[in-house]
Amino acid sequence: MKNVLIINGPNLNLLGEREPGIYGSDTYESVCREAVIKAKELGFSDCECFQSNHEGGIIDKIHAARLDKCGIIINAGALTHYSYALRDAIAAVKIPVIEVHISNVHTREEFRHHSVISPVCRGVICGFGKYSYTLGLQALADMLG
Ligand code: DQA
Repeated sequence: MKNVLIINGPNLNLLGEREPGIYGSDTYESVCREAVIKAKELGFSDCECFQSNHEGGIIDKIHAARLDKCGIIINAGALTHYSYALRDAIAAVKIPVIEVHISNVHTREEFRHHSVISPVCRGVICGFGKYSYTLGLQALADMLG
């Protein structure tokens, strides 16, 4: 089973129109398309993309993924910075979770410098635009061997 799940949190459905100077002009759909192509190239049998603006929906998805996915790439959006419920959900599952961000959060507002989920993720990739997702997939593929 080499099925990967890519989760995008609040406001990431608006990629392409949301603050393009920070997040780029690619739409959510095209970022997903490219990630799915990359996942296939890397040998994943399936790559599901899921986006929700709701914390609970994301947590439910993480719980379900523990049964049939080999790993998760997550851009939790602003939940990254304050959601202990999300942190606990990631800690609760045994599959590897990689945190990604499109922007370099460390060059931005102070509140974005801290992630409550980083300590329970395998690693963090940020600042590479849409390539943060493909770099995350690459890291997961290498990790799984
Ligand atoms: C983000 C960074 C977060 O601080 C922000 O709230 C987002 C997107 C990123 O991908 O750069 O929604 O996770």
